[in-house]
Amino acid sequence: MCTKVLLLLPFILCSFAVVAAVPLGGACTNTFNCTSTTSDSECKSLTCQCMGTHYQQNNMCFSKIAIGSPCNGTTPCNDENASCMNTCTCNNAFYPDTTCKDRIHPNMTCGNSTPKNASCVANAYCDSTNICVCGIGYTTTTTSCNSAVTIAVVEMSTMILCFVLAYFEVLK
Ligand SMILES: *[C@@H]1O[C@H](CO)[C@@H](O)[C@H](O)[C@H]1NC(C)=O
Ligand SMILES: *[C@@H]1O[C@H](CO)[C@@H](O)[C@H](O)[C@H]1NC(C)=O
Ligand SMILES: *[C@@H]1O[C@H](CO)[C@@H](O)[C@H](O)[C@H]1NC(C)=O
Ligand SMILES: *[C@@H]1O[C@H](CO)[C@@H](O)[C@H](O)[C@H]1NC(C)=O
Ligand SMILES: *[C@@H]1O[C@H](CO)[C@@H](O)[C@H](O)[C@H]1NC(C)=O
Repeated sequence: MCTKVLLLLPFILCSFAVVAAVPLGGACTNTFNCTSTTSDSECKSLTCQCMGTHYQQNNMCFSKIAIGSPCNGTTPCNDENASCMNTCTCNNAFYPDTTCKDRIHPNMTCGNSTPKNASCVANAYCDSTNICVCGIGYTTTTTSCNSAVTIAVVEMSTMILCFVLAYFEVLK
């Protein structure tokens, strides 16, 4: 029994010597150097680092946080178009699907979100035919729903400018 172990000892020691144990931050030539010590790591720029889908904490790699899940300053979100607002939340121009997707333009089919309205651009809602439609009081452009009031103000200032120009024209 004892002799068997003694005979195997060189092989056991040898197998440990072959496994290159490179910690995060250490120099590597291939990903195996890194994964043999830390799972979900890889050899990037000749250094062991966590894979892009993971972040480093205490010399370990953890999955980045999914949209809708709790996060904090040290636990980054797994979507470049999301930010941590206590939970990982899609940025303004995006809505949550499996990833953060661009919000749907007016007159296009609503996205897969809850509520459906959340998939449409600002000031639009998802109508009964599953189309993003600008709300009442908003004018439809190909990409957005603009406040009709803003347009009225622009028109009003154009009118005032015209009156002023006309007035000076008369004075000439
Ligand atoms: C990385 O692994 C290769 C072979 O897989 C080995 O030759 C090399 O010594 C290892 N590098 C480090 C820094 O351990
Ligand atoms: C952030 O969240 C992680 C995972 O839930 C937790 O381990 C860590 O303590 C938190 N850090 C802070 C600063 O709250
Ligand atoms: C983030 O948004 C930009 C702009 O819409 C897009 O090109 C990119 O693919 C998005 N990233 C991901 C990971 O979906
Ligand atoms: C979506 O928007 C429409 C129009 O503003 C509103 O009547 C409807 O209640 C909204 N639905 C949801 C689920 O928020
Ligand atoms: C959106 O659809 C409405 C109704 O079908 C149409 O009158 C309008 O011209 C469309 N607007 C754009 C910007 O495609």
